[in-house]
Amino acid sequence: MPMPPFASKPGGNATLTYGNRSIDLPAMKGTVGPDVIDIRKLYGESGVFTYDPGFTSTASCESAITYIDGDAGVLLYRGYPIEQLAEHSDFIEVCYVLLHGDLPTPEQLKTFRYQITRHTMVHEQLNQFYRGFRRDAHPMAIMCGVAGALSAFYHDSTDINDPHQRMIASHRMIAKMPTIAAMAYKYSVGQPFIYPRNDLSYSENFLRMCFAVPAEEYKPSSVLSRAVDRIFILHADHEQNASTSTVRLAGSSGANPFACIAAGIACLWGPAHGGANEAALKMLEEIGTVDRIPEYVKMAKDKNSGFRLMGFGHRVYKNYDPRAKVMQQTCHEVLDELGIHNDPLLKVALELEKIALHDDYFVEKKLYPNIDFYSGITLKALGFPTSMFTALFALARTVGWIAQWTEMIEDPSQKIGRPRQLYVGADKRDYVPLHKR
Ligand code: SDX
Repeated sequence: MPMPPFASKPGGNATLTYGNRSIDLPAMKGTVGPDVIDIRKLYGESGVFTYDPGFTSTASCESAITYIDGDAGVLLYRGYPIEQLAEHSDFIEVCYVLLHGDLPTPEQLKTFRYQITRHTMVHEQLNQFYRGFRRDAHPMAIMCGVAGALSAFYHDSTDINDPHQRMIASHRMIAKMPTIAAMAYKYSVGQPFIYPRNDLSYSENFLRMCFAVPAEEYKPSSVLSRAVDRIFILHADHEQNASTSTVRLAGSSGANPFACIAAGIACLWGPAHGGANEAALKMLEEIGTVDRIPEYVKMAKDKNSGFRLMGFGHRVYKNYDPRAKVMQQTCHEVLDELGIHNDPLLKVALELEKIALHDDYFVEKKLYPNIDFYSGITLKALGFPTSMFTALFALARTVGWIAQWTEMIEDPSQKIGRPRQLYVGADKRDYVPLHKR
């Protein structure tokens, strides 16, 4: 069923008065969520810029992909609630929804699954590329390098103006990211790379490429594969977050899709963003026991400590991150399946959450657990080293980056992103020769 062409609708008008000037600025309405004031003509008619470091009040684009209501704790992929997709869908179907806008028919899903499955192998020459890294290289360093290098291997899908090449590049990146991430893990542990298999699902393939060894058969547990698949669904897209905005900005210059995804991976690596799952687990390990929680909560409330509770807080969610609830449930499922009943980290996490959610500081600042709070415990239980946590986030977010990049390329109103600034440096002055200084 083709999706209706979505578009903004005209809103009211805003009048901006500054000095002796008044400018009428049109407002625009979306399907749901805050209206926007269209300031595109502001500088031309007033000579002033808006100022919004961190873009806390700025919409960078029109998008029909993902909607977040931070106050209500709502997350929709193409209108479908994340909780329903996590329960009823699978990651490949969610990839189709994000890329194409609607749930696929059985035939569409079968074709899409076939297409993705048959792009999971990487060019054999790419194996040599890994040999250039130190064995102890962080998997995210490898992912940045290898993702960027893909444009050196797949020249036939780098023309961003060719819809067919864009589709092939999209399928290649969604399909190959698990292979690239698994190879980064295998390289770090000195084990041989495991080739993908076409008879396995996306998450089964990923688990097997990570944990199988040539010396014996490996059959991933259906509970653990389902858990990994759900983790991928939860991380697939999230509106205009930092790494998605990076991909859009890189893409706005016409850079090839592989280079844009590499830029997104680099941005996601930061501990304030996708690196928070690794940082959150390290924090829980450092706290170690429930009796040490109060001292860390005290530090988190002390501005001068420089310490933050990793996995807590969010730019948009001022309520519980809906993904964190599903993540917590998945965490329990995985620990139960693996027979881990008294995980000390989980005990610390549950107690820390309980304390923080009743502490005035966190309540007042609306700081709730985000998706990264429980993902670390789950991924550790699944057997991934902490250094792989953000690589899994990048693997799952690749489809979101691709969907957002495609939407940007196809948006007739988009142009190269080029923010301005408030200049506070030295005014014009003459050069002073060295002997006169
Ligand atoms: C992700 O954007 C996305 O959608 C990202 C993401 C996605 O799917 O793409 O959801 C994934 O990145 C989740 C967030 C993971 N990061 C962390 O868990 C790191 C810890 N959290 C923080 O660093 C922080 O909460 C951010 C970065 C997530 C959000 O920062 P904001 O919106 O810029 O908020 P802020 O830094 O201005 O904080 C507001 C106040 C500040 O106090 P005041 O200056 O107002 O007195 O809350 C405090 C902060 O000091 N605060 C925290 C805190 N987070 C915010 N205090 C203690 N611990 C924390 N975790």
